[in-house]
Amino acid sequence: MPGSGAPGAGVEGSDDIGVSHYPAIVHVVFLETRDTIVFIVTVRVFEKSDLPGILRIERESFDRDAWPRELFLEYAAAVPDLFLVARVGGRIAGYSIGCLTRHGGEIASLGVRPVHRQRGVATALLRAMLRKLRRMGAQAVWLTVRRRNEAAIHLYRKLGFMRTSTVPNYYKNSSGWRMKMELS
Ligand SMILES: CC(C)(COP(=O)(O)OP(=O)(O)OC[C@H]1O[C@@H](n2cnc3c(N)ncnc32)[C@H](O)[C@@H]1OP(=O)(O)O)[C@@H](O)C(=O)NCCC(=O)NCCS
Repeated sequence: MPGSGAPGAGVEGSDDIGVSHYPAIVHVVFLETRDTIVFIVTVRVFEKSDLPGILRIERESFDRDAWPRELFLEYAAAVPDLFLVARVGGRIAGYSIGCLTRHGGEIASLGVRPVHRQRGVATALLRAMLRKLRRMGAQAVWLTVRRRNEAAIHLYRKLGFMRTSTVPNYYKNSSGWRMKMELS
């Protein structure tokens, strides 16, 4: 659950995978009470009309390292069930892309719009992704994160990922951490 203690307190989750009439759609709802504000985060698979919103998140999240439009379209074609989009109040708030490799699942990318951060959006996306990867047979999930990306490292550790190794110069100006989570 995202958060015991604010922000993220009082979170409840529900997941209608498997009961939806649209089995490709993941729908996760987190209700978060912070004072009187209620955030509802829905997660579903990518639709082409999401692309402008995704590109905006990408620019805001990764600046010069932002992936190009074409790469998102390639992922959408290659892993349509593992390209997840989170919405808050009907607007795109974040996305995550996963894939399956011979080592298991891999989180290829994750980004949340700055205005929607620290409200459980990334947590909702990753929980949905982990469920999907487990159902697809992955026994472990891997990712690489910038060594100094404290927000992301906190998030991954909170979900159960552990560092396995450091990859020098993985990024242009930084080493990366390989992190792994066993799916039982
Ligand atoms: C990293 C990122 C995806 C987190 O998204 P988010 O929606 O804000 O994350 P959540 O609200 O689900 O946070 C869950 C946990 O992550 C950690 N966390 C999130 N933001 C944090 C921050 N700024 N500082 C420290 N920890 C943070 C906390 O442990 C938090 O739990 P808590 O709220 O109970 O304390 C977001 O900051 C982002 O898009 N950053 C830029 C892109 C990026 O770095 N992507 C990851 C590439 S590997």
